[in-house]
Amino acid sequence: MLGDLPAVDIHRHLDGNIRPETIWTLAAKHNIALPARSLEALLPLCQIQDKTADLLAFLARLDYGISVLADVDACYQIAYENMQDAQQEGLDYVELRFSPYYMAQTHQLNIADVVAATVQGCADGERDFGVKHNLIGILSRTFGTEACTQELNGLLAHKAHITALDLAGDELGFPAPLFVNHFKQARDAGWQITVHAGEADGPQSIWNAIELLGANRIGHGVAAREDEQLMAYLAEHHIGIESCPTSNYQTATVVDTPNHPMKQFLEAGIEVTLNTDDPGISAITLADEYTVARDVIKLSDEQLKQVQINGVNQAFLSAADKQSLF
Ligand code: HPA
Ligand code: ZN
Repeated sequence: MLGDLPAVDIHRHLDGNIRPETIWTLAAKHNIALPARSLEALLPLCQIQDKTADLLAFLARLDYGISVLADVDACYQIAYENMQDAQQEGLDYVELRFSPYYMAQTHQLNIADVVAATVQGCADGERDFGVKHNLIGILSRTFGTEACTQELNGLLAHKAHITALDLAGDELGFPAPLFVNHFKQARDAGWQITVHAGEADGPQSIWNAIELLGANRIGHGVAAREDEQLMAYLAEHHIGIESCPTSNYQTATVVDTPNHPMKQFLEAGIEVTLNTDDPGISAITLADEYTVARDVIKLSDEQLKQVQINGVNQAFLSAADKQSLF
């Protein structure tokens, strides 16, 4: 990561970046049982050391953090701490995404109240830690279309504080055609669109994200490498790919990290960006991902620089706000 260019992470789940210490203390505060006798014993459960079997096994690791969100104050706290983490990592701008249905689910919180607390935690964090941010709402497809309608309504209740809508979770089980109406509403609300696609499923899932949901960016997009026409389309239409190589290894989306398609995408002229996904689960920072991209994926210095600039270009910011990051 070059210090003279803005450090930007545009694919980071705030509910996948809950500090283990916070999981531990919130569990104690709210008398919530965790399957560990100490914080040290919790770490191997809520963090991933090597890899998991597949995306769903990876996502199950997020459940420990979610299980301690006993009230909206806890949601506020994790949002606020995410902003502090961003400052400690040296980020200039972060797009934090979150799934309010998932966050609300264990303790039956009101979804719109979860959104409000998250919005406030991030706003206070920006004020106190000086990192610019935007919020992306997630529809967690794993819970089905009806849950996603509730989730969308909770997000729309705070429409002005949300920049974009994302579709995350079980890509194979709940494909994009199920969510056409949800995303039409989101576009009508003036939101931008990014979709997790080509992570657990193939290139058709990416075409669907673009053609059926109106995606401006694609989360992961690994499967685009199987479709040359799609790669050309992404490049021509400046649809950025949000790459998260450590996550892709840990979800078994790529067999091994040297095999990650970032380099191929850059050579095809696609605006590839580099991001952390769920840094609390993966136990990584954005700087770690730049090291992986340089040392393991073997991006050249020129390509690394391009990736860092792409992060700014693809950010859901006005041209003036992008310029102000430099
Ligand atoms: N894919 C889908 N859903 C997710 C992910 C991911 O990588 N991380 C958190 N939710
Ligand atoms: Zn993600």
